[in-house]
Amino acid sequence: MHSTIESIRNNFRSDLINVNNHQDLEVIRVKYLGRQGILADLMTQLKDLSADDKKTFGPACNQLKAEFQELHQQTQALLFAREQELIARKAAAFDVTISKPLQQGSLHPYTYITQEIEDIFMSMGFAVADGPELETDYNNFGALNIPADHPARAESDTFWLPDMQRLLRTHTSTVQIKTMREQTPPIAIICPGRALRNEATDASHDFMFMQIEGMLIDKNISIANLLAVLKEFLDKLFGKSLQLRVRPGFFPFVEPGLEIDAQCPFCTTGCSTCKHTCWIELLGAGLIHPNVLRNAGIDPTIYSGFAFGSGLTRLAMLKYHITDIRLIHSGKIEFLEQF
Ligand code: DAH
Repeated sequence: MHSTIESIRNNFRSDLINVNNHQDLEVIRVKYLGRQGILADLMTQLKDLSADDKKTFGPACNQLKAEFQELHQQTQALLFAREQELIARKAAAFDVTISKPLQQGSLHPYTYITQEIEDIFMSMGFAVADGPELETDYNNFGALNIPADHPARAESDTFWLPDMQRLLRTHTSTVQIKTMREQTPPIAIICPGRALRNEATDASHDFMFMQIEGMLIDKNISIANLLAVLKEFLDKLFGKSLQLRVRPGFFPFVEPGLEIDAQCPFCTTGCSTCKHTCWIELLGAGLIHPNVLRNAGIDPTIYSGFAFGSGLTRLAMLKYHITDIRLIHSGKIEFLEQF
């Protein structure tokens, strides 16, 4: 028994010499001091000894255990001190004066153009309104005087939810309705935001795009007010005085409805952007249909208003000469870096 104890002691000490880290130490603790370890085994052997031997070896085993525990603790403290020293040495080697070139991010073209458009309209007294992208059939169509048999309601254009009552808004005109319900005239708002349509993607179409909606309601609002606001907007956005051209257009939520073209900001004699016509189709607009005002709780015998809608994606593509809509939504760093 005596020699067994001695050889365990020697083994433990030589194992300890090879310890490099806390994991190594834990392996050794389990091997010797664990519940099924070498010392536990030794203790069970004591049972089979004579009473005299028990008296000698019992205390010797206890002594061995206490010695191991002490050595284990000392080694642990040593490892900890070594770790701290390493951390301190690393911290001392950290050079706060080293400067590495930073990779600079940039804003998305949508963000730039939205900020610019908001600034232009705010300078004319418009507020920026917001609305949900998940809408009801009524807010997207019915309240805007779009009858049940209008092609825009066909499933092919609209992302419906399975209940066929809710949808992803197909235009930002929904915000007209929300704002009319929440505010009393005079109201002047714009709403830049996302619109979604279930259509195939190509260089100029995507199922998700940005629109901007505008609306002004007060007493005696006319087409002249609409044109003055739109001219100011487009002149500022493209940085030059542009002629506008007004054509009749049909949108169920306005009467009369207009299509508004601007003189091409990039040429005087025709270019690829304006398809050599010198005009660019930019907006749908008109005087808000009395049914729409009524649907949203505004009396059309007292108030009138104008509304307009334009593709913000299209405006961004024109302004920044982007030829493929898919680039805008690609998240490609080489594309974004240019802004
Ligand atoms: N909502 C129309 C669309 O998505 C755009 C539009 C046309 C908005 C005429 C208007 C408007 O407010 O008066 O194509």
